[in-house]
Amino acid sequence: MLKDKTVFFCKECGYESAKWLGQCPACKAWDSFVEAPAQSKKRGVSSAASLKSSARGAINGGLTRNVPVKLSDIVSVKEHRDKIGIEELDRVLGGGIVKGSLVLVGGDPGIGKSTLLLQMSGKLSDNGKKVLYVSGEESLKQVKLRADRLGEFKGPLSIISETDLDIIESAIENSEPDVVVVDSIQTMYRGELDSAPGSVGQVRETTATLMRIAKSLEITIFIIGHVTKEGTVAGPKVLEHMVDTVLYFEGSDFASYRILRAVKNRFGRSNEIGVFEMEGAGLAEVKNPSEYMLAGMPDNEPGSIVAATLEGTRTILVEVQSLVAQTNMNIPRRTSTGADYNRVGLLIAVIEKRLGIKLSFCDVFINIAGGLRINEPAVDLAIVVAILSSYYNKPIEKGVVVFGEVGLTGEVRAVTQAKDRVEGALKMGYSQCIMPEADKTSRSMQNYIKEKVEQSRERKMGEAANNKSRGMKLIGISNIRDLVSFFQS
Ligand code: TYD
Ligand code: MG
Repeated sequence: MLKDKTVFFCKECGYESAKWLGQCPACKAWDSFVEAPAQSKKRGVSSAASLKSSARGAINGGLTRNVPVKLSDIVSVKEHRDKIGIEELDRVLGGGIVKGSLVLVGGDPGIGKSTLLLQMSGKLSDNGKKVLYVSGEESLKQVKLRADRLGEFKGPLSIISETDLDIIESAIENSEPDVVVVDSIQTMYRGELDSAPGSVGQVRETTATLMRIAKSLEITIFIIGHVTKEGTVAGPKVLEHMVDTVLYFEGSDFASYRILRAVKNRFGRSNEIGVFEMEGAGLAEVKNPSEYMLAGMPDNEPGSIVAATLEGTRTILVEVQSLVAQTNMNIPRRTSTGADYNRVGLLIAVIEKRLGIKLSFCDVFINIAGGLRINEPAVDLAIVVAILSSYYNKPIEKGVVVFGEVGLTGEVRAVTQAKDRVEGALKMGYSQCIMPEADKTSRSMQNYIKEKVEQSRERKMGEAANNKSRGMKLIGISNIRDLVSFFQS
């Protein structure tokens, strides 16, 4: 008898290999390969390749031979979207749910994935959608208890507590729901595979089956995946390439807010975020994250400055804090919370070299207050301003917002969507903006300024003088050297 064929997968990224490898060539992770059975083509949809062919079969109405078609001959259909009614979630999904799509919601255990998707199921069913919530982790009673905490559920929401995917598949075929939530993919299994639920083989097989169901029955399926640090349970990373949309739920241990980020989205913008706060009765939307992030910001304190950052399509204002203090260690300490550690080290080196400030005798601590992680370089200038403000022990006056990228020669470089950042800060009542000179003089910014000036002139003429005309003073900087005069005067 032929031995069952096996293949190896990287636990971190899902890379497939015929033999075991010490280091993954794709994601460079060490010792990440696990063995899983390679399913035969006839059994269906295990590997990504066979998944594609089966999905294609479904799309083509079961045609087995596929021929190339001219792009111009394909009739374009605008994908139909159904709004959920939770604005933060709708935006992250790109404007609502799409029929026939598979959405993966990943995150650490306990972050609130089940809560969010149960709330979503409630909203959808209240709007008349048929929703099936498959719980592989909790009993019906437990789901009911959670639902009771979240409020009233009036619509046609059905729940099944099951982990055998074949039973779930027939439940879906019988009840014909519009939306299915599978909580969680790591508890699901198919009896045909010998491996345990949660193993790479099972997780991939069950996801591929769910993909086929979603495409062939034109329903939207949400799957929950726990992020696992180590061990034999496969994390959502191995599924990212198989699904249409990947959302990650992030949060900080110290703050009650949660960020839902679209890491991949075939039907919308990636990197869009939605902000929620975990409350006693489920997740509440945070419609103005800037206000939330800046709550409790001190007035007139050295080392504290507001940065205009961009998350997806939204400008979010965050407070960047710095503390520069004389060190009593041989090697000065540098810590960074919320900003990239290496980037902070680089900015400190630029300040030392270009401004001649000796920071090697100082500990430097950087903190993005509120717990948000900022990865874009547009926060550089705010970090530099915060460090200088703490170093010179001089506060930045109220109402100032900063953005800009800093290069190795100390030059301040243009960033994307400068206009949106200025607009976002203006809306939050800020009156001065320290920004790259190149952005200030750019054509789009000049047009924007002209537009604003005209608007305020019209307003002044049209209304009484008591209408305070709000404006924004733009201060263009081309090198961080220009900043020193702010602090030495
Ligand atoms: P849960 O959705 O079960 O997390 P996950 O599915 O990602 O593992 O959320 C669990 C946490 O949320 C738990 O610590 C309790 C808390 N919680 C609230 O604070 N308020 C609520 O209304 C609910 C339902 C949960
Ligand atoms: Mg859960």
